[in-house]
Amino acid sequence: MDQLKTTELQSSKPQLIDRFGRHITYVRLSVTDRCDFRCVYCMAEDMTFVPREQLLTLEEMERVGRAFVQLGVHKIRLTGGEPLTRRGVLQLIQGLGSLEGLRDFTVTTNGSQLPRFAVDLKAAGITRLNISLDTLRADRFRQLTRTGHIEQTLAGIEAALAQGFKRIKLNAVILKNRNHDEVLDLVAFARERHIDISFIEEMPLGEIGDHDRAEAYYSSDEILRDLRTRYDLQAVNDQTGGPSRYYKTLDHDSRVGFISPHSHNFCGDCNRVRVTAEGRLLLCLGQEHSVDLRRVLRAHPLSDEPLIATLKEAMQIKPQGHEFQLAEKPILFRHMNATGG
Ligand code: GTP
Ligand code: 5AD
Ligand code: SF4
Repeated sequence: MDQLKTTELQSSKPQLIDRFGRHITYVRLSVTDRCDFRCVYCMAEDMTFVPREQLLTLEEMERVGRAFVQLGVHKIRLTGGEPLTRRGVLQLIQGLGSLEGLRDFTVTTNGSQLPRFAVDLKAAGITRLNISLDTLRADRFRQLTRTGHIEQTLAGIEAALAQGFKRIKLNAVILKNRNHDEVLDLVAFARERHIDISFIEEMPLGEIGDHDRAEAYYSSDEILRDLRTRYDLQAVNDQTGGPSRYYKTLDHDSRVGFISPHSHNFCGDCNRVRVTAEGRLLLCLGQEHSVDLRRVLRAHPLSDEPLIATLKEAMQIKPQGHEFQLAEKPILFRHMNATGG
């Protein structure tokens, strides 16, 4: 225990630096691969999820988060699947929320559970929320999520707004001929609420059995062109630590972001790694380079030193970037829900 305390005092300077000189200060922790939705770009209709006994416990996840913060990570995002469907997740959030050195503590959610969680998330120290919303039309929402109801997510957004979260961001994955005609309406929705919105190009992770991803490709540049028919969007230099490039109009505080892994590769500035719900440290969203943290956690239940050493060593295998190709079969078998986005 004393040993843990001593390391805690040394914290905060970036200590995770990869072979390309990139500083890792942002960790995305997936707390479950399960979800109450089955979004067509994320999952197949029939999915096999990780057996519960193979998941990290919430205590193990907290150890991982704490070790990262000791190594200079100042931003943690909880992802899924849908993170708020993991039983006991609030306990983890409370634990991580009290870590000194953590400046940005955020959740990416589909919003369905926010009506019951928004108050507790705010109290536990969550600083920002990203909420997925691809359409404003109930029938399309059902088609795109396969199982979701739009009322739930809209109520979730309102619940989050009522708690006064700063800089809520909507995430919209845009697919040609499915929802590309709604980009103006989605921006209007975000502006009415003074929140941000990011448009995301679909990434080829896992077989989804729904559509041809190359045919559904609708680039960020096409979206920006569509938006400029109504809004005078200008590029701004805002950084959230994530991959969005942001635009704004002069008369409004809502930001419009673009996450464009195909058309504007951002790997050169990558500052993040991911941990799956099974405790696999993934060094890149688009590659398989990984380290099994669960083995280290379970071999050393009383000391975090081996975990810390493992995290530092892992930086040596962080790849330079992803190699997504829409026209080919997915190079990765892993679906997005296994990675947390
Ligand atoms: P903030 O900038 O902190 O608001 O968050 P974010 O945009 O990084 O996170 P969010 O969970 O909202 O993710 C939005 C999308 O960005 C998801 O589809 C992620 O998969 C994608 N994304 C995040 N990091 C990376 C990355 O390193 N590579 C790629 N290709 N996509 C990423
Ligand atoms: N490509 C791009 N974004 C995806 N998401 C899920 N699957 C994909 C994919 N294949 C998005 C969700 C959510 C975020 C975590 O990842 O819409 O906003
Ligand atoms: Fe669930 Fe998010 Fe995947 Fe949709 S994109 S199925 S909400 S994990």
